Amino acid sequence: MTQFKPNKLGPVVIKAASSNTLSDTYRDSIAISYQFIGSSVPETRFQWEDRVFSTPIMAGPIGGPERKGEDGTLNYARAVRDAGAVFWTGYHEKDIWPRILSEGIPAVRVIKPLADLNRLLEEVRFDTEHGAIGYATDINHALTVYGELDSQEEGDFAPKTVEDLRRINDASPLPFFIKGILSVHDALLAKEAGVAGIVLSGHNNRFPCTVPPLRLLPEVRKAVGSELRIFIDGGLNNGYDAFKALALGADGVLTARGLVATYLKDGAEGATNKLLEMTAELKGAMANTGSTDLQHINSGALVFL
Ligand SMILES: Cc1cc2nc3c(=O)[nH]c(=O)nc-3n(C[C@H](O)[C@H](O)[C@H](O)COP(=O)(O)O)c2cc1C
Repeated sequence: MTQFKPNKLGPVVIKAASSNTLSDTYRDSIAISYQFIGSSVPETRFQWEDRVFSTPIMAGPIGGPERKGEDGTLNYARAVRDAGAVFWTGYHEKDIWPRILSEGIPAVRVIKPLADLNRLLEEVRFDTEHGAIGYATDINHALTVYGELDSQEEGDFAPKTVEDLRRINDASPLPFFIKGILSVHDALLAKEAGVAGIVLSGHNNRFPCTVPPLRLLPEVRKAVGSELRIFIDGGLNNGYDAFKALALGADGVLTARGLVATYLKDGAEGATNKLLEMTAELKGAMANTGSTDLQHINSGALVFL
């Protein structure tokens, strides 16, 4: 029987709703109801274990900075650090990753869901011993959009069970995050595995017709309770988008494509400034909704149009 041969481009050839468009449309259908009486200057300080950062807005893992030359990714990581933010990176930055860690840049690596669990655990050990502030895996990368086992040059991937996730979590004292959560089902199983947190993410159009992560967020927060950290991404490109995510229940926000685009255009200073600007916008949204700090975000300040 003739087998279907997937086009390597994956989801972009599928004739279905663009997940990024769904996500952007939903994000833009939420407005902020400002309140000014009794307001004050807020704090955007963001706690990560025993460390404090200037902002809950983090750089999401993404390819692209390497286009700025040999040190492109390292300089991008430095730019994020200079904004007082946490840097997340992908698994492909193999050579640069030890250099990022050796500079003490506060960083989290998203390790691919390798089929070889022992290899994955070795990566976790490496990150733990070399000063990462956390680690993650993108579970949505195990199977392709066509339902086959995925792979990249780094290796073959495979789906993970709750037991696998528990082993990965227990392999290090660092906080472990599962990236690519798109259902209450998976959020609850992540919690059962004992992880520190999850990242709600559609991974840039990886699958068609994906529920906008922002739309899912309140249900997930309600289901998992307050202990599990919830981060989110998907077209969150300014401080008002970040505010919406925080008001819907997120603890932090990842921004990927927007920040890299600025870096490629305006360099490291541009990327630092973009994060500072996003944080200033967030601070403005917090100030004018009576949200004094990240623990006191006014969740009633959103209106769904
Ligand atoms: C070129 C490219 C490479 C990416 N590489 C990774 C990766 O290695 N690991 C990962 O977890 N996510 C990766 N992502 C997904 C992003 O982290 C993020 O989930 C997605 O782009 C949505 O966020 P954004 O709308 O802010 O870009 C990548 C995205 C792009 C566009």
